[in-house]
Amino acid sequence: MQSNLQGKTSPTPLHVGIIMDGNGRWGERRGLTRTEGHHAGVDAVRRVMMAAPGLNIDTLTMFAFSSDNWKRPKPEVDGMMKLIEHYMAMEAQPFADAGVRLTVIGRRDRLPRSTVAAIEKIEAITASGTMLNARLAIDYSGRHALLAAAARAFWNGPVTADSLSQALATGSGYRDIDLLIRTSGEQRLSDFLLWESAYAELWFTRTLWPDFTGEELADAVQAFRNRNRRFGGLPGVAPSAAPQLQVTT
Ligand code: IPE
Ligand code: IPE
Ligand code: MG
Repeated sequence: MQSNLQGKTSPTPLHVGIIMDGNGRWGERRGLTRTEGHHAGVDAVRRVMMAAPGLNIDTLTMFAFSSDNWKRPKPEVDGMMKLIEHYMAMEAQPFADAGVRLTVIGRRDRLPRSTVAAIEKIEAITASGTMLNARLAIDYSGRHALLAAAARAFWNGPVTADSLSQALATGSGYRDIDLLIRTSGEQRLSDFLLWESAYAELWFTRTLWPDFTGEELADAVQAFRNRNRRFGGLPGVAPSAAPQLQVTT
């Protein structure tokens, strides 16, 4: 597991997580449908992905559809799946040209087959990208990911922080979240990357996701750089011990 000891003086590349919230309200406030809000949200995804490498972000994980979002009305869910498919088809080549590698985390067994096909296609086309590791979380639940990883780690030997992190790793690897952003004024995790966010710095904005810009992402990164990350220790003091997380069964 990589160490996240980095602060305002270190230019270590960041893993930023974004809970892209507020599409529905954005649509409703304009007299549009919630689905039209989701469409507007796609432009913000593109803006943020293009701005990320210039802000020393090398990994970006964005929450697009939670496992609890299946509770929404079927027309909205269907519209979102179609939008995801359209997005994947439109963005594959531009991402490949820009060096963006796009992968998807979350369950695939409940997605429409056409959505899975679109995901597999964009993952293949963008596989060699090195400028940005962009990960979209679709049918993702942090609790489900933890349960599945715990079961896998258990069968492979002693369950430690490292073995669980390894079991949580996807095709795009494992990284703790450095900075977690949520738009739309809500201040909760909604089952996003629970383990990975253990020491994430949290940053909230009232901006609705479709209005989010690269400039606001830069503001969030700047705020992050001004924070003091202590990881339970004291600033400027070398740790006297390195406690290990491990359970015996
Ligand atoms: C975020 O926008 C996108 C998803 C959750 C899929 P919402 O659809 O949650 O929009 P609000 O929060 O209802 O405005
Ligand atoms: C979280 O947003 C999921 C995504 C952004 C994809 P929700 O809008 O679904 O979360 P709650 O219901 O407000 O907690
Ligand atoms: Mg919401």
